[in-house]
Amino acid sequence: MSEQTDKFKKYGIDPSRLPRHVAIIMDGNGRWAKKKFMNRVSGHEKGSEAVRSIVTICREIEIEVLTLYAFSTENWARPKAEVAALMALLKKFIVSEIDSLHKKGIRLEMIGQKEKLPQDVRDALDGAMSHTARNKQMCLNLALSYGGREEIVHAVRKIASKVKKGKLSSGKITEEVISQHLYTRKLPDPDMVIRTSGEMRLSNFLLWQSGYAEFFFTKTLWPDFTEQEFVEMVKDYQSRDRRFGKVVCSSNDGSQQ
Ligand code: IPE
Ligand code: IPE
Ligand code: MG
Repeated sequence: MSEQTDKFKKYGIDPSRLPRHVAIIMDGNGRWAKKKFMNRVSGHEKGSEAVRSIVTICREIEIEVLTLYAFSTENWARPKAEVAALMALLKKFIVSEIDSLHKKGIRLEMIGQKEKLPQDVRDALDGAMSHTARNKQMCLNLALSYGGREEIVHAVRKIASKVKKGKLSSGKITEEVISQHLYTRKLPDPDMVIRTSGEMRLSNFLLWQSGYAEFFFTKTLWPDFTEQEFVEMVKDYQSRDRRFGKVVCSSNDGSQQ
């Protein structure tokens, strides 16, 4: 048996039915810290360790894109000190992980309002993204100051300006055109959307793109989320019948013969 087949066998994963894009709402850092009588920032610190292990397993099982919801447009309304700590942690994560991501062939990308991030975070992000830009093994896509509604507003403005300039006629605005104006234009839609911490809502995450995603909710708080639980979700995904509104579907990638 080849090393490749062996690897998937170890996890019980079918390499022919892998999700291309997995998106995760990493929630529950604050509650994790509270349970341990720690401050919320310690929860976020612990959460960044879980990020490391989930990136590693995704790379190992050959997931193409992993999108992590790290900071929403609404999260700016949190106490100033928590926002500052989250931004500092983000920068620390980028600086400390970049070599390891690069060695693994992982390309770092982001979606969201980059211009709203503090200058030092932006600089670290830009450096890391250009350093890893040619990597092809996997894309680690961070959703930062990201909101699905803001993303749609942003896209509509760009489309409206093209219509106004006569570069696009309104009758030519299709689903494809809208997708091409979103932050995710280069990425496939998410196949799996995972949310930790027991909350069952999207909280403004990938609203347009999740139209046909498979959802996974777990009560596990993000800092306690493990590779094993992730692998179980991928196996569950592989057992689901993705019909895309059709009647027969023999594989779970939307193709039909
Ligand atoms: C997720 O954990 C991290 C961010 C939203 C930045 P939370 O900070 O939302 O943790 P809870 O939901 O308060 O437990
Ligand atoms: C969603 O979590 C945002 C991120 C994980 C970055 P929140 O904790 O902000 O969402 P709500 O407030 O529970 O909806
Ligand atoms: Mg939360």
